[in-house]
Amino acid sequence: MTTLNVNGHTHEVASEPDTPLLYVLRNELNLNAAKFGCGLGQCGACTVMVDGQAVLSCVTPLIVVEGKEIVTVEGLGTAEKPGPLQAAFIEKQAAQCGYCIPGMMMSAAALLKQNATPTDEEIRSALRTNLCRCGTHMRILAAIRRASELMEAAGLPAAKRSAG
Ligand code: FES
Ligand code: FES
Repeated sequence: MTTLNVNGHTHEVASEPDTPLLYVLRNELNLNAAKFGCGLGQCGACTVMVDGQAVLSCVTPLIVVEGKEIVTVEGLGTAEKPGPLQAAFIEKQAAQCGYCIPGMMMSAAALLKQNATPTDEEIRSALRTNLCRCGTHMRILAAIRRASELMEAAGLPAAKRSAG
C-alpha cells in the first residue's frame, strides 16, 4: 500500500508503486479533474500540484509522491463555493471544450503560489507545457490575471493560494 495525501485527505492506495499518479487519481480515488491527453508528458492535461510545484501526473510514478502534498482542481474549491482560480476561469469564460483547463489551472495555481502578480510573459512561460487545441489561450491568460487580482483582494497569503 502507498499513502497519498490528496487535497488534504490521506488515502491508502493499492496500485503498484510504479503506476502513474494520474491513473491512481482517476481510477482509484475517483478524482477525474486531471485528464489523460497524451500520456507522454507532452500536453499538460494531467498537471497536478505536488508540494507547490506543477507536475505531469501521467509520467509521475506513485512512489515519487508518497507523503507529499498533492492538489488537484477538486482541491481548489467546489461548485457551490469556487476558489479564486475557478471563479476567474468562469468569469472570463476561459474554457471552450474544457479538456485542457484543469491542467492549465494547476500550472497557474503553482505559479501564483510563487509569484502573486505574474506578468503576461511569466504566465506564458509557466504554462508553456500546457497545450490548448481550442486556442482559447488569450482568455486563459485573462483568467489567470483575474485570479491574481481576486487573490490579492482576498488578502490570500501565498501558502494558501491553492485553497478554495
Ligand atoms: S497526459 Fe500528461 S502530459 Fe499529456
Ligand atoms: S479549451 Fe479545449 S483544449 Fe483547451
